[in-house]
Amino acid sequence: MKAVKLKNNIYWVGAIDWDSRNFHGYLTQRGITYNAYLIIDKKITLIDTVKEQFSDEMIKRISSVIDPSKIDYIVSNHVEMDHSGSIPKMMDIAKNAELITCPNGEKGLTAHYKRDFNHRIVKTGDVLNLGKRNLQFVLTPMVHWPDNMVEYMPEEKILFSNDSFGQHYASSSRMDYKNSKDIIIEEAKKYFANIVLPYSAQVRKELEVAATLDIEVIASSHGIVWEKYTKDIIAEYKKWASNSVIRKAVIIYDTMWHSTEKMAYSIQEVFEEKGYSTSMKNLQSNHISDIMTELIDAEYICVGSPTLNNNIMPNVASFLTYLKGLSPRDRKAIAFGSFGWGGQSVAQVADYLKDSGFDVINTYKQKYVPSDDDLINLKNKLTEDLASN
Ligand code: FEO
Repeated sequence: MKAVKLKNNIYWVGAIDWDSRNFHGYLTQRGITYNAYLIIDKKITLIDTVKEQFSDEMIKRISSVIDPSKIDYIVSNHVEMDHSGSIPKMMDIAKNAELITCPNGEKGLTAHYKRDFNHRIVKTGDVLNLGKRNLQFVLTPMVHWPDNMVEYMPEEKILFSNDSFGQHYASSSRMDYKNSKDIIIEEAKKYFANIVLPYSAQVRKELEVAATLDIEVIASSHGIVWEKYTKDIIAEYKKWASNSVIRKAVIIYDTMWHSTEKMAYSIQEVFEEKGYSTSMKNLQSNHISDIMTELIDAEYICVGSPTLNNNIMPNVASFLTYLKGLSPRDRKAIAFGSFGWGGQSVAQVADYLKDSGFDVINTYKQKYVPSDDDLINLKNKLTEDLASN
């Protein structure tokens, strides 16, 4: 449990959570890393802490470099407990430390920990001198809570970006170039789709600020540190935050006796014939958080459910609830499904999609099992509907 040197007198002192597979419904199949950074200067500074259960790991890493009681500043970039959870313990150890936070951070930390920490409030434009280095603060509310902030260290060209640019990814190598580029970009995309997506407008503002800075390294609070691929991840963030779509349709469904599935594959054929890339997502075998990653750039979101007890299938309900919370903007949607007698599911799916802000271009229903002619009719109708949209 040692600190990992990033630059002269700047260390990663976080914790690796190899086992975690769930973050609020988000399937973290590659685990999670909680990043904290230690800066040894005239003022010894810790940027963020780790989830409370991992505090001993962080303290061991800090102790491999300095005595933790000597820390002068603890910067809290975000109140969420994966980053602030070890602040009370660290403030007990570093008895003379000053906690650096923003106004919403102060409120949030007090509400969480019921303590009055020795603290200093900063706002955008404030600079904290550490000795040879400085931290310039930028408040970034709602990326991902009201209390987020980031800081730029001009002397080292490092952006400490907290949740932004993060990935849920546990690995023994801290630097981007020691990991598969495809995997870390994919995990960053999944993180964006499942955590940051609702706050895309705020991310765009953050990117405007980032464009004015000479950033060589992005030290986020989750996953690897960006150094070789810094420009690449900023370019990807611009794309994801822009809400732009490509000719792509994602077809998400559950099925009981394969009738809704047959409809799903007929719908896919139509989109393919129209030149769309397609992705089939059976909810029995795909996790909702992986489906969100696929939806980031999809023009069409197609959701199918058979009717079960006058309702939609539980897997579909779970997906629609998750989708509504993350709600990608300005997408077209269709609802479809089979039924035996009641047939309520398709209208329910359509209502949910409309409530989520999507433009539902049409709905398609099938009684019992579709015949070949039924599927041809479905394809013809969808082809017409796509032509008029
Ligand atoms: Fe990584 Fe919003 O906490």
